[in-house]
Amino acid sequence: MAELHIIDHPLVQHKISLLRDKNTGTKEFRELVSEIAMFICYEATRDLPLKEIELETPLAVAKTKIISGRKLAFIPILRAGLGMIEGVTTLVPAAKIGHIGLFRDPVTKEPVKYYAKMPDDISERDAIIVDPMLATGNSAVAAITELKELGAKHIKFMCIICSPEGVEAVQKAHPDVEIYAGVMDEKLNEDKYIVPGVGDAGDRIFGTK
Ligand code: URA
Repeated sequence: MAELHIIDHPLVQHKISLLRDKNTGTKEFRELVSEIAMFICYEATRDLPLKEIELETPLAVAKTKIISGRKLAFIPILRAGLGMIEGVTTLVPAAKIGHIGLFRDPVTKEPVKYYAKMPDDISERDAIIVDPMLATGNSAVAAITELKELGAKHIKFMCIICSPEGVEAVQKAHPDVEIYAGVMDEKLNEDKYIVPGVGDAGDRIFGTK
């Protein structure tokens, strides 16, 4: 079973508290989502391989390390996942971005894909799916399934807040996918929102209702 990594760094925890506050407005909420995404991405990329190179500093030749071999793609689940892209691409500017759009079928309650566009070389890239809220896990499971069908082999999932139900669903359907989250909240309510959570992350990022 792939691990669940909770990024319990004090700066992440502090920023998540600001995110939770119902009085935090759209501009600040958007900035916080981006900043928290950057910190979680820092941990999610900790296993990137390095190679040693030599280069000249103004004083001497230095044996030093650069990232080698693996290329990344970030895949936001539309729409709230878009809010995490600025933060993660600040850390990894060379990454490519795929997109996946899912809506919930009103009858079956199952996620239905309405859009998917991945980089051509997705099978050669480490793919990191981003979505601020891992609630039921239905969208996350569907997004991972879609990515695997398109050839992605190394997939991670990054969120800001997860629920126990969401983590269990992802781990059960895709035991190879590691999950990176800022915090695990208590539960889902009857509308499948994470409690205490932040409310609707997409609405708060984009200022809609
Ligand atoms: N999506 C959200 O935006 N918030 C939740 O609590 C759950 C899913």
